[in-house]
Order: sequence, then structure tokens, then C-alpha cells
Amino acid sequence: MPNQVNEIDLTRLPKHIAIIMDGNGRWATEKGHDRLFGHYHGVESVRNVVEGAAELGIQYLTLYAFSTENWDRPEDEVSGLMELLVQTIKSEVPVLNKNNIRLHVIGDTKMLPENAFKELEDALKETSGNTGLNLVMALSYSSRWEIKEAIKKIALDAIEGKILPENIKDHTLQKYLSTKDFPDPELMIRTSGEYRISNFMLYQLAYAELYFTPTRWPDFRKEDLRKAIFDYQQRERRFGKISEQLQSEHASL
Ligand code: IPE
Ligand code: IPE
Ligand code: MG
Repeated sequence: MPNQVNEIDLTRLPKHIAIIMDGNGRWATEKGHDRLFGHYHGVESVRNVVEGAAELGIQYLTLYAFSTENWDRPEDEVSGLMELLVQTIKSEVPVLNKNNIRLHVIGDTKMLPENAFKELEDALKETSGNTGLNLVMALSYSSRWEIKEAIKKIALDAIEGKILPENIKDHTLQKYLSTKDFPDPELMIRTSGEYRISNFMLYQLAYAELYFTPTRWPDFRKEDLRKAIFDYQQRERRFGKISEQLQSEHASL
């Protein structure tokens, strides 16, 4: 595949890219291995894509690694994934620090086994001073869980008189979401040929460009990320307006 880095307009990069890393299990079973083999290889893709995003100067990269619904998978797959998580965090923290990458996490992390939770807390602390790429891991995350949590907090603030119903604006909910410190993703990528959102950032993806690829996650590399960004840059984002309006706005800049 040609290296497409030269074709990407570096002045018009998405600030935030979100990825549903899907297809590990099928990738492995198609090769005659068990599903965990696919998850292990998926970590290679994470490394490579994070590196690719950092090289391009992307500011935020969110990776959907484990959903709240994924807890219902067979026990051995869940425990294998948790073990992989602990190992990966441990081995990657020095790499993140070396590359000035700050780790964030969104999701119901209280559900994680104690050792995974602890490793994660340490990794968040140890990378908190980094100022390059913000790597957001969605772990034990689902959008409906996140929205429910936000509404609970709004209700509590209302009871305490900190917020009045008439002061709830379009963007109020955003301030209560776990993504409150991050801009909305402009580009959302899903691998493995599935065309759905699977409870991921339902609020934040309102105007994201969606990019679907049949490539299974363990085969996805930084070149594929660049291809997705290139595709994104060919699109016209209208936000409800019409093309002529956008062109005249552009001309008056
Ligand atoms: C994505 O791959 C990783 C997780 C959800 C943890 P899958 O495990 O969903 O792989 P497929 O979709 O079954 O192939
Ligand atoms: C979505 O993938 C969650 C992650 C990639 C972490 P799933 O494989 O769980 O989604 P469905 O079940 O195919 O919708
Ligand atoms: Mg899947």
C-alpha cells in the first residue's frame, strides 16, 4: 500500500479520532486460534496506531477497548482480556512517557478487577504531565451508562440548588459527561466490517464523519489510519447548512 502521509492535509487534521477496535475474535478463529490470540495481536495494532496518531500530531485518540456489555462474554475471555490489560498498561507506560502521551480513561472502571484498576490509576498519574497526544481508553464504557451517570449528577446538582432547570442549555449535558475535557470526535472509525455504533459515544458522535473498513482490528495499521483521515478530508461537513453557504463562508475568511 502506498504511504499516504504526503496526501493528508496536515493543516486540516481532525482534532479527535475515535476508533471501535473490532474483529479480534474473528481474526483469530479464521486462523484456527482461540479468540484471546486475536486480542493479543490487537495490542500490536494499538501500539502502531497510537504511534501513527502521535506522528501526525493528532490531539485526541479514543480507543473503544471494552464495553459494559462485554462483561457478559464467556468468563475465560473476560479474565484473559483483563490480564492482557494489566500486562499492557505495565509495559506501555514507559513508552507513553517517552512519546509524551497522556493516558485518560472513560468508563465504569469500578467494575474492573482490583489489580487492573490499580495499574490504571498509576498509569494515569504517571502520564499526567505529558502534553502530546491524549490517549483516551474507553474501558467498561457504554454511552447509555455514561448518559445515565451524567443525568444522576445533574439531578443531584438540581436538588442542591447548584443548577436550575431553566439554566439547562444545549451544552449542559456535555459538561457532565466523562468526555467533558475532550472535543467531540470529528472522525469515528470502526474496523471489521460491522456497520453499527454499539453504544459508543452516542452524544459525542452527533456530527462525526463515520468510516467503516472490513479490515479486522489486528490487521489495522497506521497506514490504514492515514487512509481514513484522507477519506475524511475529502468530505464536506455541512452541519445542517447547504454547500453554497459553506463556500461563501470559506471565501470570506
Ligand atoms: C473487539 O473484538 C475487542 C473487544 C470487544 C474486546 P471482538 O472480540 O469483538 O472480535 P469479534 O467482533 O468477535 O470478531
Ligand atoms: C464493540 O464491539 C465494543 C468494542 C470494540 C470494545 P462488540 O464486538 O462488543 O460489538 P457488537 O456486539 O458486535 O455490537
Ligand atoms: Mg466484535
